[in-house]
Amino acid sequence: MQDYFLSIKSLKVDYEQKGEPVTALDAVNFSLNQGQRGVIIGPSGCGKSTLISVLAGLNSHYSGQVLIGGKPPASGGETALILQDFGLLPWKTVWDNVILGLRLRKKNTGEIKTAAETVLEKLGLGSLGKRFPAQLSGGQRQRVAIARALVLEPKLLLMDEPFSSLDALTREELQDFLLEIWEETKLTILLITHNIEEAVLLGQKILIMSPCPGQIQQEVENSLAGASHLRGEVQFLEMCSFLRSFLRGRAHDAASA
Ligand SMILES: Nc1ncnc2c1ncn2[C@@H]1O[C@H](COP(=O)(O)OP(=O)(O)OP(=O)(O)O)[C@@H](O)[C@H]1O
Ligand SMILES: [Mg+2]
Repeated sequence: MQDYFLSIKSLKVDYEQKGEPVTALDAVNFSLNQGQRGVIIGPSGCGKSTLISVLAGLNSHYSGQVLIGGKPPASGGETALILQDFGLLPWKTVWDNVILGLRLRKKNTGEIKTAAETVLEKLGLGSLGKRFPAQLSGGQRQRVAIARALVLEPKLLLMDEPFSSLDALTREELQDFLLEIWEETKLTILLITHNIEEAVLLGQKILIMSPCPGQIQQEVENSLAGASHLRGEVQFLEMCSFLRSFLRGRAHDAASA
């Protein structure tokens, strides 16, 4: 049997709304190899953020089996989470935002300085350390959020619609940038998006979710992932159209395409 880095079996999550149970996820099964990039795409409210919160160790009220590197999810461990709104502390400078996690892990001053300088340089933020988040563009803010995650050397990077508040060009720039980071680190990444082109560009494995309660409706192995020069080319657009058919509930059309 194959040994996956991330393995989810029969995952079910219920919430309570006005005293009634609401099932957000039901019978979710999928897995990712170490170093693989997975992308989840699905309709609003199908449970994508719920899934991410379980993987990030922020929601332990679930049934089923979830293993990351053979262990159940834990917050603050080897998993990093990046959200759509960047999650930066507005009263702290870029530098202080980036070193926060290292401080919490009680690293010594020398280690903190070296790690933060290296990551800020890598992300093209070397000259922005003294600025506050409000003094940055959206793209720069998201870079800081990525720097803050990478400085902790995670094994799994979770991203919940990380680029959705950015304009189209900045978004493309950061998609390419994420691919560069992945080439360098070979991190396991699980990213959520509503954007079909983004899913095709980034996801080696694309997981299409059904409406609430969310399940993985279709897994697509995507050989076009990572090929940013193919954006707008025929085969890229065909793959986008295939996904679009699934998402619009025309699974039959997609399967016979
Ligand atoms: N804390 C909560 N308490 C009760 N119900 C919740 C809670 N969080 C989410 N839900 C419900 O669970 C379902 C899944 O929500 P979730 O936020 O995971 O969806 P999503 O796929 O991330 O949606 P979107 O694409 O809009 O971000 C929804 O029906 C939502 O109303
Ligand atoms: Mg969500």
